[in-house]
Amino acid sequence: MSLLDVSDLRVSYGKALALESVSIKVEKGELIGVLGPNGAGKTTLLKAISRSIPLQGGTLTFKGQSLENVAPYDVVARGICHCPEGRKLFSELSVLKNLQLGAYLRKNTAEIDADLERVFTLFPVLRERQWQQSSTLSGGEQQMVAIGRALMGRPELLLLDEPSVGIAPRLKGLIFDSIQQIRKDGTAILIVEQDATSTLRITDRVYVLEHGRTIREGTSKDLAGDEYIRQVYLGV
Ligand SMILES: Nc1ncnc2c1ncn2[C@@H]1O[C@H](COP(=O)(O)OP(=O)(O)OP(=O)(O)O)[C@@H](O)[C@H]1O
Ligand SMILES: [Mg+2]
Repeated sequence: MSLLDVSDLRVSYGKALALESVSIKVEKGELIGVLGPNGAGKTTLLKAISRSIPLQGGTLTFKGQSLENVAPYDVVARGICHCPEGRKLFSELSVLKNLQLGAYLRKNTAEIDADLERVFTLFPVLRERQWQQSSTLSGGEQQMVAIGRALMGRPELLLLDEPSVGIAPRLKGLIFDSIQQIRKDGTAILIVEQDATSTLRITDRVYVLEHGRTIREGTSKDLAGDEYIRQVYLGV
């Protein structure tokens, strides 16, 4: 049984089909990438998994249990946390408050404190800036808050939507390093990205999504050598 099993997923916005047939699996502790151009359906896929949009067909299971009729907050309680496209921070609130909001369903304060410490170890700059209003942080630092907030839900599976977009190159490396560290600490990750080079470097396996369909899948090593991937996604 896979940790996450998405099979033949179909999603539309009104009459427009966004996901036609998407199948992906994530095993416990894996770091899996989804590559694809603008409009391919990457964000739609993550929103479908976190149950924030309705499904038109297919199946979706997490740890063997269907997520089809599960509310978004219950998806979090079951162990999936979503770090959304564009970060979606509460910009007028402090860094610390944003992080604490990620733990809103949890009660064990000792565990919450331990996880906050873990986020500050992963992103030391956030410890220094914890009292600062989050809108005053740089794009890269705001992305760290968004990832940290998702970690505060103590996920078994972390969904990351384009964490490297709009970030200075120096911080981009730091973000990809932190993603590898989160996985080393035992959290499975499904990352959606347009930076194919970095994604193929850090992931175990990758799915390629085009026009709402998975058109390629394989180990990152194999796909990095695939002629089509090299031409279209790596530009070599
Ligand atoms: N709320 C919405 N209402 C109507 N159509 C939508 C909506 N959100 C997305 N779409 C459409 O669904 C398709 C998939 O969009 P989606 O945002 O999932 O793509 P994406 O792969 O995440 O793209 P990007 O790389 O630009 O973020 C696109 O054709 C998009 O225009
Ligand atoms: Mg998107």
